[in-house]
Amino acid sequence: MGDGTNIKIDESLIDSLKESESIVFFTGAGISSESGIPTFRGREGLWNKFKPEELANFDAFMRNPELVWEWYNYRRKIVHDAQPNPAHLTIAEMQNHFKDVTVVTQNVDNLHRRAGSKKIFELHGNIERNFCINCKKFHNEELDFSVGVPKCECGGLIRPDVVWFGEYLPEDQFLGGEKAAINSDIFFVVGTSAVVYPAAGLVYTAKASGATIIEINIEETEISSSVNYSYFGKAGEILPRIFEDYKLRTDF
Ligand code: OAD
Repeated sequence: MGDGTNIKIDESLIDSLKESESIVFFTGAGISSESGIPTFRGREGLWNKFKPEELANFDAFMRNPELVWEWYNYRRKIVHDAQPNPAHLTIAEMQNHFKDVTVVTQNVDNLHRRAGSKKIFELHGNIERNFCINCKKFHNEELDFSVGVPKCECGGLIRPDVVWFGEYLPEDQFLGGEKAAINSDIFFVVGTSAVVYPAAGLVYTAKASGATIIEINIEETEISSSVNYSYFGKAGEILPRIFEDYKLRTDF
């Protein structure tokens, strides 16, 4: 495992960045771990302690909506109290220096938007939104749990707008992410174990389309042997380092 401050950033990467117009950041739970949001897998993974795959599915919700909401309200509280960290903020700042910066995230925590990123594709939904399972109306008002699981005016149960196991990804978000991957010059893969498909497939889409792939993670992953550059350390240290080096070697 590396410490971002000691890691040397390859000059050839900085050269590639100088020539790049389209940069994609494909992100996962690890980018938010320095904001205090637990990851799912990995050493400190939340799923080492809980079994949320048993909760994060529609059948579980229909069987026991109170329990599933309890789990999501717990996570919503953590997300609500969290702040974007230097990794999210660096990505947002890079919008001012490159023609096209796109975030394609598996995270549901809204931290990229709160950091100021503008072009974001959310592959797995957003925990701060909710909708009715019956009429699909969005309910983004403060939900009232005082008399049980909140219901829509139509009588349907309200659920979080996140992708559950066995569900399709939102088509517009996936297609937008895929297009960005195809058009990218540089494709950063930040803080994801890259094991959940179809999202993880975007790494190979970008690679097949000729993008330079850069991985930033605290440990090796499934894709480490397929990337052009790997930096092992915290995203909140390495991303600012890369951007600082870029600025030092570029005239503005
Ligand atoms: P994971 O929890 O699977 O992976 C988190 C990754 O972040 C691991 O590879 C860690 O090593 C790495 N990591 C942890 N802290 C880091 C740091 N400070 N800097 C850099 N890397 C760090 O999370 P995802 O890959 O996002 O889907 O998981 C993918 C999907 O699995 C999630 O979106 C979720 C889950 O099922 C759904 O809920 C549909």
